[in-house]
Amino acid sequence: MAIVRHSRLQAKKRSKVTFVLSILFMLTVLLLMLLGLGVFSLSINNDDSSPNDLTSYRRLAYERGKGLGKRGEQWTEVLSWEPRAFLYHNFLSKEECEYLIKLAKPHMAKSTVVDNETGKSKDSRVRTSSGMFLRRGQDKIIRDIEERIADYTFIPVEHGEGLQVLHYEVGQKYDAHFDYFLDEFNTKNGGQRMATMLMYLSDVEEGGETVFPAAKGNISAVPWWNELSECGKKGLAVKPKMGDALLFWSMRPDATLDPSSLHGACPVITGNKWSCPKWLHAEEYKF
Ligand SMILES: *[C@@H]1O[C@H](CO)[C@@H](O)[C@H](O)[C@H]1NC(C)=O
Ligand SMILES: *[C@@H]1O[C@H](CO)[C@@H](O)[C@H](O)[C@H]1NC(C)=O
Repeated sequence: MAIVRHSRLQAKKRSKVTFVLSILFMLTVLLLMLLGLGVFSLSINNDDSSPNDLTSYRRLAYERGKGLGKRGEQWTEVLSWEPRAFLYHNFLSKEECEYLIKLAKPHMAKSTVVDNETGKSKDSRVRTSSGMFLRRGQDKIIRDIEERIADYTFIPVEHGEGLQVLHYEVGQKYDAHFDYFLDEFNTKNGGQRMATMLMYLSDVEEGGETVFPAAKGNISAVPWWNELSECGKKGLAVKPKMGDALLFWSMRPDATLDPSSLHGACPVITGNKWSCPKWLHAEEYKF
C-alpha cells in the first residue's frame, strides 16, 4: 500500500511539473510572437540613449529652451560676412517679449557707456536710451531664452552677461560704437566680448534701425531699403521687428577684433523701441 501511495504521489508531482513547464513554454512562444510582431522592442538598438548620437542632441536642444508662448515660423537670414551678421526671425515669442518688458519697466535707468580709459560707466550724449540688467538665470523664462541663445550662437550660457533691456523713445539713439573693449579693466571678467545677440522686443514704426556703417558690400541691396530712415541708409541696416534677433560678431573666426562690427542705434522717429542685447564673452563671465 505504501508503495502504491508513493508512486501516485510521484505521478501527481510529475504532472504538476509538466503543467508548469507547458505554461512557461506557452509564455515563451507568446513573447517571441509579440517580439516578432514588433509589439515590444528590446533596448539593445535604442538610439535615444546613445551619447554620441547627434539626433539625440538635436532633440535635447530643441526641447530645452522651448519657452513661453508660441513662436512664429523661424528662419535664418545671412545679412553680411563683414561684419558676420545673421538675423534669426521669430527667435522670441510675443509673450516672451512682453514678459521681458514687463520685468524691466519698473527699474529703467539712464543708460551709460564704458569709459575707455578708466573702464568705469559714465553718462554720455552718445547713448540716450534707458535700460536695466536682468540677472543671468534669474527665472525659468529667462533661463529658457539664455539656453536658446547658447544653442543658436554655440557659445555656452556661462559666457554671457545678464540680459539687458533697453528702451528708446522718440529721438533717442546710440551713436556708432564697438561692443568689444579696448581697455584692460573690462576684459578681466570673461575676456573679450566675442558676439552680441540683439533681440528686438517691439516693432518701431519709423527709425530705430540697427546700422553697421562700416559693413562691406552693397548696403542698398537690402529689400527694405526704401523703408529706412536717413540714418539707416548710412550703412547696412536692420529694421527692428518684435521677436527677431540679430546676431553679430565683434571677433573674426581667427579671434582678431573686427572693426566692421561698428554699429549704432538710429534715433527713433515714430513709435517706441524696446530691445534686449546679450553680450557673449570669449571665456566664462562670472558675476
Ligand atoms: C578713447 O576714446 C577717445 C574718443 O572717444 C579716443 O580719442 C581715444 O583714443 C580712446 N582711447 C583708447 C585707449 O582707446
Ligand atoms: C546695389 O544694389 C542695388 C539694388 O539691388 C542696385 O540697384 C545697385 O546697382 C547696386 N550697386 C552696386 C554698386 O552694385
